Amino acid sequence: MDRVRIRLASDDSTWLEERARQLGPVEDIVVTAAVRPAELSLSPQPPVALVDGGSDLTGALDTIATQTRLFPGSACVLLLQRGWDLATAFPRAALVGARVVLPHDCTLAELAEGIYKAADSVAAGGQPDPGPAAADRMITVFATKGGTGRTMVAVGVAAALAARGLRTALLDLHLDWGNAGVWLRGTPTRPFSELLSEARRMDADLLQSFMARHGSGVYVLPAPPKPEMAEFVHAEHVSAIVRAARDGFEAVVVDTPPAFPDTVFPALESADHILLLTTPDVASLRNARAALGVLDLVQIGRAKTHVVLNRANRGSGGVRRTDVEATLGLPVWAVLPNDDAVAVRAANQGLTIAQTAPGSRLGRALALLARQLVPENTERRSQVGLLRTARDSPASTR
Ligand SMILES: Nc1ncnc2c1ncn2[C@@H]1O[C@H](COP(=O)(O)OP(=O)(O)O)[C@@H](O)[C@H]1O
Ligand SMILES: [Mg+2]
Repeated sequence: MDRVRIRLASDDSTWLEERARQLGPVEDIVVTAAVRPAELSLSPQPPVALVDGGSDLTGALDTIATQTRLFPGSACVLLLQRGWDLATAFPRAALVGARVVLPHDCTLAELAEGIYKAADSVAAGGQPDPGPAAADRMITVFATKGGTGRTMVAVGVAAALAARGLRTALLDLHLDWGNAGVWLRGTPTRPFSELLSEARRMDADLLQSFMARHGSGVYVLPAPPKPEMAEFVHAEHVSAIVRAARDGFEAVVVDTPPAFPDTVFPALESADHILLLTTPDVASLRNARAALGVLDLVQIGRAKTHVVLNRANRGSGGVRRTDVEATLGLPVWAVLPNDDAVAVRAANQGLTIAQTAPGSRLGRALALLARQLVPENTERRSQVGLLRTARDSPASTR
């Protein structure tokens, strides 16, 4: 392996000296600069930095966010300081683009390993982030309470988009207990177990070989077949999957777990829209408020988070829409009616609501939600483009 050249960044000159001294004997690592965070610039080379977590962490996260944005082909390793445990800091760091996060008491071997890993990730993902490429329509459906309707909405929105002719992917990131692949049954060419070892060279074609094409037109990446496999999936795998999906599809819809494991953050961070679901009951609403708190904490903008009230008319004496808005401090962006017959029948038949009952209230509400997310005019433009290249149709032009 080539020697890894890195820069160190900290406001604390003692920290810089100590890290430089510590890494001195490591043959494969060369420290090329030790600077204050404000002076850090990962371009030109080297593309790897070791960043001091500092006492309040926020400054370090800002530094990493800036470098990642300015130099997408670079990688930052965050070394936490005492007082920060990995479980708390990792999600925030991953969100701003840190490739590796190390605990304050890591050994020299672990520190070196982390730096190698970051350098490898730069080499593997050498090309800069594709940015808002093919799919600038990634929709992550989220709720921290099970049974809120994440899968129903994810399947419903994906199907509504596919029905409009958009090449649509549905990624089931509810890795342990997800059932989007049970609803939209199908057999991928290759099993999920092989996906993890392929993550480093993941691209749109490779991803498609792990997906099943459902009769609705939706391509589904099902959750692993056994819940215990979920623990082998890491945030890096998910990032690779999301990147490939955005590359290969016009719309990407993500189903999620009712929690905040590391693996859900790449899908929340990359999303153009987050649908935060709640049902009209106090327990669900409390969970939604707590979820918003976490999203705020990790600085996911509220601008892309939309509250969706599912099963709105269910039961009597339920929470009203105005209560939802007052509790969450956000407007209700979309309302989906309760319709047991339609929802359950479609799921049991393994069909989408767009297939079984497009004219039902729930079917129409899902189609409307899909139009709010991806307006019709953008779709027509892309379809015309596709048609022209595919068939060169003379009739399609004005
Ligand atoms: N608007 C709705 N009307 C009727 N039933 C619904 C509706 N939304 C969800 N359901 C039903 O509620 C149950 C839980 O929904 P699901 O999408 O699996 O939730 P989650 O993925 O959040 O755990 C399912 O049986 C589903 O069919
Ligand atoms: Mg679900």
